[in-house]
Amino acid sequence: MINVAIMGHGVVGSGVAEILIYHADRIAEKVKDKINVKYILDLRDFDGLSYSDKFTKDFESILNDDEVKVVAEVMGGVNPAYDFVKKCLLSGKSVVTSNKELVAAKGAELLKIAQDNNVNFLFEASVGGGIPVLRPMAQCLAANEINSVKGILNGTTNYILNKMIVDNMDFDTALSLAQEKGYAEKDPTADIEGHDACRKVCILASLAFGKHVYPEQVYTEGITNITLGDVEYADGFNCVIKLIGSTERLADGKITASVRPTLVSRDHIISGVNGVFNTVMVNGDQTGDVMFYGKGAGKEATASAVVADIIDCAKHLNARKYLFWEDGSDDYVVCSDKAVKLYIYAAGDDFNTLCTSAEALFGENASYIKNKFKNEIAILTDKKPESELLKAAEQLKANTVKVMHTLF
Ligand code: HSE
Repeated sequence: MINVAIMGHGVVGSGVAEILIYHADRIAEKVKDKINVKYILDLRDFDGLSYSDKFTKDFESILNDDEVKVVAEVMGGVNPAYDFVKKCLLSGKSVVTSNKELVAAKGAELLKIAQDNNVNFLFEASVGGGIPVLRPMAQCLAANEINSVKGILNGTTNYILNKMIVDNMDFDTALSLAQEKGYAEKDPTADIEGHDACRKVCILASLAFGKHVYPEQVYTEGITNITLGDVEYADGFNCVIKLIGSTERLADGKITASVRPTLVSRDHIISGVNGVFNTVMVNGDQTGDVMFYGKGAGKEATASAVVADIIDCAKHLNARKYLFWEDGSDDYVVCSDKAVKLYIYAAGDDFNTLCTSAEALFGENASYIKNKFKNEIAILTDKKPESELLKAAEQLKANTVKVMHTLF
C-alpha cells in the first residue's frame, strides 16, 4: 500500500480525493498496488463526507509521517504552499502539484531540491488542466530542439471571449458564468489580467528551453480592454480575438515570452479552440507543429492530471523522472523586433483627418474598416518590423489608439 496526502480540498483537491477514493480499485490495478489517501489537509471542516475521517488541520502530521510517500499540493498560491512543498521534498516525499503560481515562481529551486533528495516533483496539471502537455514535451519530443510554444492557456478568458464573440455577451456576465462553472481562479484578476496564462508560459518556456523564466520577465496583457467593438472589427478582418501565450527561441539562445490578446485568423487552427478548451502548439525542429487540445480548467479535468502524477510517483518511488531545468537569468528573456502584422484601433474627433492620417501612415497594403458613425477606424497593417508600426501608430491623428498582435 502506498500512502498519500492531499493538501487542499478546494475545487481541484476535492476532485483528486474523489478519484483516488471512489475509483480506488481502478487505480490500484494501474499501479499494481493500493493507493491510500491517509490525510487531507484543510483548515475548513468537511463533515458528512464518506472520507471525513481523513481531514487534518496540521501540516506537521503529514510531514512527520514516514509512511506518506507522495503528497499532492492543490492549495494554490505561493505561501504557504512553497514552504510545505519544500519541506516534503526535503523529507524524502515526492510532490505533485497543480499550482502554476508556485511552479512559475519556484520551479527551478524545487526541481533541484527534488533531484538532491532523489524524489519527484511533478506538475502536469499546472498547464492546460487535463491536457497532457508537459510530460509529452519532456518525453515524447525529447529528440527535438523546441523552436516555439504558443497557445490558449486560460480557460476562463477563452470562455469569456467566446461568449463575447458568439453570443454578443458583455464581459461581466461571461465572467460570472465562468466563475459559476469553477473555471476561474479564486481571484479572477489572475485570469482576466493574464497572470494565470503568464505563469503557464513561464512553465512551458522553462521546460522547452531548459532555463527558468520568471513571471516578471513575460510581457503580460489581459483581456479587460477588449470591447464588443474590437470583436466586431476582428470579425471584419476574418479573425477572432484570443488570449495567446507564446514563447520563442531566438538565434542567439535568448527567448521571447508574452501573453496578449491577439487577432487570430479564422483560417488558423487555433481560432477554432473555444469555450474552456485550451490548446498548446509546440514547434520542434524534427516534428514541426504538434498540437495539444483539451479542457484547460475545471475540477475533473485538472484532478485527472494530478492523479496521473500521483500514479507516476507511486510507480517510481525509487526512480527520478525526467523533468528538470536550470535557474534563469535577468538578460535571458528579450523582445524581438521581427516583422508582424498589427491590428490598430483608433478613434478621433475628426473622422476625415483620422482616415487620412491612417492611410498616409499605413499605406495601401493595409486593410481598413472605417466607422463614420462612431468616428473610428480599425486597421490591419501590412507585415513590417513591430517598432516601425508602433511608431506609425503614435503618429495617428487620434484621441484613442489600441494595438493588438495578430496570428495568421
Ligand atoms: N483559472 C484557470 C483557467 C484554471 O481558467 O484556465 C486552470 O489553470
